[in-house]
Amino acid sequence: MKGSGEKISMLTAYDYTTASLIDKAGIDAILVGDSLGMVMLGYDTTLPVTVENMITYGSSVVRAAKNSFVVIDMPFMSYQASVTDAVRNAGRIIKETGAQAVKLEGGVEFAEHISAITRASIPVCAHIGMTPQSVNAFGGFKVQGKSLEAARKLIADAKAVEEAGAFMVTLECVPSRLAELVTRMLSIPTIGIGAGAGCDGQVLVYQDMLGMYPDFTPKFAQRFGDIGNAMTDAFKAYDAAVKDGSFPAEQHTFKIAQEIIDSLGGEL
Ligand code: KIV
Repeated sequence: MKGSGEKISMLTAYDYTTASLIDKAGIDAILVGDSLGMVMLGYDTTLPVTVENMITYGSSVVRAAKNSFVVIDMPFMSYQASVTDAVRNAGRIIKETGAQAVKLEGGVEFAEHISAITRASIPVCAHIGMTPQSVNAFGGFKVQGKSLEAARKLIADAKAVEEAGAFMVTLECVPSRLAELVTRMLSIPTIGIGAGAGCDGQVLVYQDMLGMYPDFTPKFAQRFGDIGNAMTDAFKAYDAAVKDGSFPAEQHTFKIAQEIIDSLGGEL
């Protein structure tokens, strides 16, 4: 798709039902992001997410994805401590979910890990720029690559992950002109999130693009639906119908023969 200039669409999903709808919509790829720690589990960061969490959510997405390519995030500390950990955990994620690829955060520092996972025949999507697992080192979720030094570091990271064998790279919260430069420089596709239209594709957290995550909406996320309010309205309508007795109605109930009721009446 990069070769022909066709843009790549990617969305996150964490469960069977949502992934089925995304797959049906023709989205090219689904990311089971460790963002699930925030949007599904309610943590403040992605740091508490475990390999088991990724496998549980990831396998439900794989069962739904008939056409979309599925990438699963390697969570914090599932690959950082050693190359051996990285290969073992990437292998577990692929073996136990059936996904097509894993994603891990980091550039130059994790090139060796990417090479080793790739040598084990597991495709790796890299993730550079604002990498949420480094939130404490960055001092918050901040745009990366704005100074000359930081821009040079981003370029070095992009080259390193491509040379290490990554088949794709996510650029998160990077100035759009820098992301465009990196995209032109690489032969692998770049998938942007908060990185402008110059990337080869885009990814969004689905709760952000549907207005479903109550805590905050990032500046880079356009709302393509107002599903959060639609759900709250439906929940309110259900609450009212239960309370005023209009739900369940006749058509929602199951029948029993009158003589059985009559017989029971005699027994009570
Ligand atoms: O975890 C995630 O959802 C991600 C995207 C924000 C790229 O890594």
